[in-house]
Amino acid sequence: MSLAALPKVELHLHLEGAAPPEFIRRVAAEKRADISRAFGPDGGYAFADFARFLEVYEAATSVLTTPEDYHRLTLAVLEASAAEGVIYTEAFLSPDFCGGGDVAAWREYLAAIREAAVTARARHGIEMRGVVTCIRHFGPDTAKRAALCAAETAGDFVTGFGMGGDERRGRQGDFAYGFDMAREAGLGLTTHAGEWAGAHSVRQALDDLRVARIGHGVRAVEDPDLVARLAEGQITLEVCPGSNVALGLYASVADHPIAALRAAGVPVTVSTDDPPFFRTALTAEYAALHAAFGWEEEDFAELNRTALGAAFCDAETRARLMKRIGGAV
Ligand code: ADE
Ligand code: ZN
Repeated sequence: MSLAALPKVELHLHLEGAAPPEFIRRVAAEKRADISRAFGPDGGYAFADFARFLEVYEAATSVLTTPEDYHRLTLAVLEASAAEGVIYTEAFLSPDFCGGGDVAAWREYLAAIREAAVTARARHGIEMRGVVTCIRHFGPDTAKRAALCAAETAGDFVTGFGMGGDERRGRQGDFAYGFDMAREAGLGLTTHAGEWAGAHSVRQALDDLRVARIGHGVRAVEDPDLVARLAEGQITLEVCPGSNVALGLYASVADHPIAALRAAGVPVTVSTDDPPFFRTALTAEYAALHAAFGWEEEDFAELNRTALGAAFCDAETRARLMKRIGGAV
């Protein structure tokens, strides 16, 4: 089997961040919105650093103003993921972008996203779950509203709660109220940590938010005691090597700590984060890891079993998909 055909499980994908630039340009043209500054001469998204990345992300997202926009976005994203061999994906969904944090408006966006997910499953055999996400640089009060949206819609489709955005602002613990609300609603928890801040941010995520998974988490490698804690607690890292390289965290995939973390017994998984922004796709990530570390199909199969084991889904779905990736339940 080729890397392209290998069935894959992706745990870390921002829905708007997966929007192809042509898709966003088309929607912008329909709405006569000028967001040309988001694009470079080759037509792709253009940014020089993480701060500008967040601005371009929000500019692109600003043209997505209706549930129908999110319906077509979800269809396009799931079709592209399925073409990479993805059989299960967890997408970060942001009530701040989908109705401004209002629960009634959020329900309408969510219904449209879910309807697209049902269609994509029938067409492409891909399973999706939503991880409602607050955005750190919008602050803790806005995050509470996102958590309320998550808690109100928790169930068989919305199965997790997380936080993205600028990790350099505030502390993880500032957002504990929202994470507590989400935990009480039965949601799985994850937060971006150890991407733009160091090991201390990963410690805060574990101590103050009590998450089961960490988005990125790679800078934990700077602290051997923390690496041991992640391995012992079997805290799964949603690692996105291409994203980290594109944003300048590491010079190349060969310099990336994913192999060291894996060798230390930390459960690592591989995702794309915002693939068109970083000019990547999941099969290309696998190919880069093969080239850098010599990982073969059995290594990737193991990573996918780890990912499915840590997925925020019900036992029946996990067992059914585990069979498709050759794992025991
Ligand atoms: N939102 C989308 N991509 C992100 C990333 N890599 N880090 C933090 N927030 C994000
Ligand atoms: Zn991310």
